[in-house]
Amino acid sequence: MALGGGERVINVGAGTGNYEPRDRRVVAVEPSSKMISKRPPGTGPAVRAVAEALPFRAGSFDVAMATLTLHHWQDRRQGLTEMRRVAPRQVIFLFDPTETYRFWAIEYWPTALSLPSEQDPPTPKDLAQILNVIDVQPVAIPIDCHDGFGTAFWGRPEAYLDPHVQQGMSWLAQLPSSELSEGAARLEADLRSGDWDRRYGHLRDLPELDVGYRLVVADS
Ligand SMILES: C[S@@+](CC[C@H](N)C(=O)[O-])C[C@H]1O[C@@H](n2cnc3c(N)ncnc32)[C@H](O)[C@@H]1O
Repeated sequence: MALGGGERVINVGAGTGNYEPRDRRVVAVEPSSKMISKRPPGTGPAVRAVAEALPFRAGSFDVAMATLTLHHWQDRRQGLTEMRRVAPRQVIFLFDPTETYRFWAIEYWPTALSLPSEQDPPTPKDLAQILNVIDVQPVAIPIDCHDGFGTAFWGRPEAYLDPHVQQGMSWLAQLPSSELSEGAARLEADLRSGDWDRRYGHLRDLPELDVGYRLVVADS
């Protein structure tokens, strides 16, 4: 619904194509050839480029979308200006660091907040300085969330011990392996002693949680 009625969609920082609509004409933009090679069959064509220099004429699309990618961009203002140039509507899914950085798992891997990608990630307010934001909606994450993004297992802490889960989350995958295993060992010990459940066990019974994810819609 956030995408509106437009047919032509550009997905900026598309990665492997998660969250990409299948009922529109989508062109993906992604700098990593490794990510592009993992796009499943049936996804739209992908162009190797960055948000800061979209290789398309003004107004080539109806909607420009970007999910969980802005905090990786070199020049956020330039990337957002480019999204606004190529499409009159912009739809952005991001995490608000003022909320998400209070997530319990960060206490096990605190150095993750020093990673370049975690320096000054944008808030919806920051976006409003560049885009004409018309709506900001909280997106609660269900307890059985199937995607593997950073906070997806907020109520299933055991998952954070799984190396496959860790490698699917950019905030953990970027850590040196020694730091990753030290944090996992502390979490494992807290789960075994019951300490995690004493502090956070109530989360296991919640159907969903607002961990700071926001859907921002802007219109030129
Ligand atoms: C965490 S992934 C998110 C991928 C996808 N949008 C999703 O929601 O699953 C972040 C993506 O941003 C891409 N990226 C990094 N710098 C970028 C830039 N300057 N412009 C566009 N994409 C960029 C990365 O290559 C990566 O695929």
